[in-house]
Amino acid sequence: MQLILPVLSLLLAPVAVTACEGECIVDITNEYLYRYENILLTTLQKATQISEQLIPAASRRENSIVYFAPVLQAYNLTAYNSLEKAIFPSYFHGKCQDANGVNPPGCPNPDCPKVCGTPGSMVHFYPTLVRIVFDGTTDLLANLTAPGSKPYNQIQQTVMADVNKGQKKRMENLSRIMPLRIRAATQASSTHNIQQGLKKIMKELRPTMLETCGGSNLSFCSWEQPMKEFILQYP
Ligand SMILES: *[C@@H]1O[C@H](CO)[C@@H](O)[C@H](O)[C@H]1NC(C)=O
Ligand SMILES: *[C@@H]1O[C@H](CO)[C@@H](O)[C@H](O)[C@H]1NC(C)=O
Ligand SMILES: *[C@@H]1O[C@H](CO)[C@@H](O)[C@H](O)[C@H]1NC(C)=O
Ligand SMILES: *[C@@H]1O[C@H](CO)[C@@H](O)[C@H](O)[C@H]1NC(C)=O
Repeated sequence: MQLILPVLSLLLAPVAVTACEGECIVDITNEYLYRYENILLTTLQKATQISEQLIPAASRRENSIVYFAPVLQAYNLTAYNSLEKAIFPSYFHGKCQDANGVNPPGCPNPDCPKVCGTPGSMVHFYPTLVRIVFDGTTDLLANLTAPGSKPYNQIQQTVMADVNKGQKKRMENLSRIMPLRIRAATQASSTHNIQQGLKKIMKELRPTMLETCGGSNLSFCSWEQPMKEFILQYP
């Protein structure tokens, strides 16, 4: 990626700069995953409409996060690779060298025209790093909850099963007074409503996570001081 930036003060002398590789990449990725755990859980916890709006009180699980178990499982399996890819080769390159293995003039340093994966450049471009981690996490969450995805289908199944459990009792009572034809129509329209409702709830997850992160400046998902110290422990 080519970035044209004004030349700012250097954070590190070129001799002190090495690429963030191996352990540095793994540890920084894991540190962000660890810090996002609560953000993710809080976001899903806030999606309480999943039970409050869709499921009758009689058959509703107490904690709505239970419905998101398939998302958490899929996230657990995919989040590391997804985030590492978003941060490292996608933006912060391990090395600054061009295709011929030659450093561009004046590189490596934090303001190289090519953004290197040095700890110094990660600190230098810290707001960009914060944005990459947030976007990477919300993109993954959006994919895992997209209608038709495996976790989405599993959630829909559970929600439908709980809704039906609650409705069955109600229908048993109504059956004495309501013709079968009308009962079937009622059930079909509620299936459609649930599917629409579920899609709407999933769509809200990204704005909800943004709100959990403190709004557009991402002030609760920055951890600026501790993360800069964490990153700079690598040479
Ligand atoms: C997935 O779960 C394992 C075991 O509970 C845990 O050690 C690991 O940190 C989790 N990974 C993510 C990305 O949450
Ligand atoms: C989300 O899905 C799109 C389309 O399949 C894909 O291009 C993208 O890489 C995915 N993003 C993440 C973070 O999984
Ligand atoms: C069904 O009717 C019975 C007896 O009339 C009542 O006790 C029960 O609460 C009703 N169930 C529902 C789900 O409305
Ligand atoms: C971030 O934005 C929120 C509301 O949008 C505001 O209250 C807060 O002061 C801002 N924080 C910083 C560090 O700019």
